Amino acid sequence: MGSQKIRDAAHSRGLAAVTGASTGIGAVYADRLARRGYDLLLVARDRQRLEALAERLIAETGAAVHILTADLTVRSDLAAVERRLRDDDRLTLLVNNAGVAASGAFVDADIDRLEAMIMLNVVAVMRLAGAVAPGFVRRGGGTLVNIASVLALAPELFNGTYSGTKAFVLNFSQALHQELGKSGVRVQAVLPGATRTEIWERAGTDIAHLPADMLMDPDEMVDAALAGLDRGELVTIPSLPDIAEWDAFTAARLALAPKLSRDHAAERYKTPTGLPA
Ligand SMILES: NC(=O)c1ccc[n+]([C@@H]2O[C@H](COP(=O)([O-])OP(=O)(O)OC[C@H]3O[C@@H](n4cnc5c(N)ncnc54)[C@H](OP(=O)(O)O)[C@@H]3O)[C@@H](O)[C@H]2O)c1
Repeated sequence: MGSQKIRDAAHSRGLAAVTGASTGIGAVYADRLARRGYDLLLVARDRQRLEALAERLIAETGAAVHILTADLTVRSDLAAVERRLRDDDRLTLLVNNAGVAASGAFVDADIDRLEAMIMLNVVAVMRLAGAVAPGFVRRGGGTLVNIASVLALAPELFNGTYSGTKAFVLNFSQALHQELGKSGVRVQAVLPGATRTEIWERAGTDIAHLPADMLMDPDEMVDAALAGLDRGELVTIPSLPDIAEWDAFTAARLALAPKLSRDHAAERYKTPTGLPA
C-alpha cells in the first residue's frame, strides 16, 4: 500500500519499523510510535488488519504509514523485508516484535512447528537486526528494540524451545548493546510477563487458566517498555517491582565471568586416574 504523507517530514522522528504489527503488542507499539512522531513501516502477514491499523493511525496522527506483508518464516519474504530496511536511510527505529509461542511437552511436540518458531523468534530477529545495524552505525544513531520475554529468565516455567528463543533475544541484545553502544546505537530488550494478546490462543493455551493478577494488558506493557526506553534501559522488565533485584542478578552473573574459562578443571572434578571416582 502506498502512503499518504500528511505530517511534515521535518517534524517526523524518522521511520520506525514494527514487525508483528497487525495485533497485540506490535499494534500498540505502532499506535504509540505514531503518536510520538514517527512514520511507520508495519510488517505482518494479515494485510487487512495492517490496512485497518494504518488507516486509523494516518487519520488520528497524520503519520505516514507504509505496510509490508510478509511471512517472516519464509526466506524470500524475510529477504524482502531485510532489503526494505537496509535501503531506507530514514529508518531510525526497529521493533523486532513478531513472535509465536508453543506450549506442551517437548517429547510430544511437532518439531517442524518448533523449527518455524525458531525461524521467526530467532532467525528473523537476528537477520532484521543485521539489516539495520550497519546503517545505524554509519548514520551514528538508531534504536533497536527486541521483544524477548521474562521466560528468558525462567526456563522451568514454560515450553523450553520458546523460552530458549527468548533467552537468545536477551543474550543477543546484551551483546549488541556492548558492540553498538559506542557508535551511538541504542539497543533495548523488553521482557514482558504474560500479556493479554492472541499469542496464547494461537499456541493452544487457554488464557483463562492464568491467574488474572499475572496478566498485563498490552497497552500498559508497551507504555512501560517505552518508559524504560526513555530511561535509557538496556533491559526492561515491565512487571518487576524492584529493579535492584535485576541489578543484583546481573552483578552476580558478571562476577562469574572471570572464573568461567581457566587452564585447569575445578578441584571437584579432579580424580587421580581420570576414572570414575
Ligand atoms: N503475550 C505475551 O504473554 C507475551 C509475553 C512475553 C513476550 N511476548 C512476545 O511479544 C511479541 C508479540 O507477541 P503478542 O503477544 O503481541 O502476540 P500476538 O498478539 O499473537 O501477535 C503476534 C504478531 O506477530 C505476527 N506474526 C506471527 N507470525 C508471523 C510470521 N510468520 N510472519 C510475520 N509476522 C508474524 C502476527 O501477525 P500476522 O498473524 O498478521 O502475521 C502478529 O502481528 C512476541 O515476540 C512474543 O513472543 C508476548
